[in-house]
Amino acid sequence: MGVRLEIYGGTDRIGNREAVERINLDAGDILAVVGPTGSGKSELLADIEQLADGDTPSRRIVRLLVNGSAPDACLRASSVVATLSQRTNFIMDITVGGFVDMHAASLHKESGAWADEVVLLANTLCGEPMRENSLLQRLSGGQTRALMIADIALMSDAPVVLIDEVENAGIDKHQALSVLCGYGKITVMATHDPILMLSSPARLVMSEGGMRSLVAVSPEEEKCRATLSALDAKLLYARELLRKGGTIQEEYFA
Ligand SMILES: Nc1ncnc2c1ncn2[C@@H]1O[C@H](COP(=O)(O)OP(=O)(O)OP(=O)(O)O)[C@@H](O)[C@H]1O
Ligand SMILES: [Mg+2]
Repeated sequence: MGVRLEIYGGTDRIGNREAVERINLDAGDILAVVGPTGSGKSELLADIEQLADGDTPSRRIVRLLVNGSAPDACLRASSVVATLSQRTNFIMDITVGGFVDMHAASLHKESGAWADEVVLLANTLCGEPMRENSLLQRLSGGQTRALMIADIALMSDAPVVLIDEVENAGIDKHQALSVLCGYGKITVMATHDPILMLSSPARLVMSEGGMRSLVAVSPEEEKCRATLSALDAKLLYARELLRKGGTIQEEYFA
């Protein structure tokens, strides 16, 4: 399936035209969306999620083309875009297994077949395991995020994946990303993490609600990424040790 996402600039929060007028993303592309808190990253993802048509506060237009033409109405946003949202509160009084079953049914997939696999994958991402009969509302923030990631990774056939701050819940961000960015998908990822920013060939810089510039990763930055990754590996190692009750030695970090 040849999928293309076209984003046409609208206005920033103040009402000025956005500097970036158009972005095209094709199957397999990944775009990092960066900017300070409140700069409009989630708003942009929301515009993509609902395939905005000049009808949102930003007045952006987002088009998704499948094999060169617009997907028909029943294949629109809900099944072409999968979103790992920044908000992770469930209001449903239901078990994890019940939730996965319901989601499977809404995607016209066989119910009863998915809960085992989704819970198994989710538990590889979070520290303390959940069970199929765990209540959704009793999951921790990290467990909820892990469940959402596993749910998208295993059940969604959507060609576009939106990720809002995967690094936020104490789960392994690299593992989560590799689980989410299936081959051939278009991935748009809002992030505050410098390594994730540099893991995409280009990053979209946001400020005051507007798309300000599109910056390509330079060869110099590729080298910086390697250095930052080595530092990050040490930080993650320390985090794992400390949160499991262990102690760390200075020489490891010298
Ligand atoms: N182009 C725009 N036009 C009008 N309002 C906007 C625009 N972009 C963002 N906003 C509004 O600005 C507020 C902050 O934006 P948003 O939540 O997207 O920031 P963010 O970059 O995701 O911040 P954080 O890093 O804290 O998650 C929201 O209320 C959002 O609706
Ligand atoms: Mg946000």
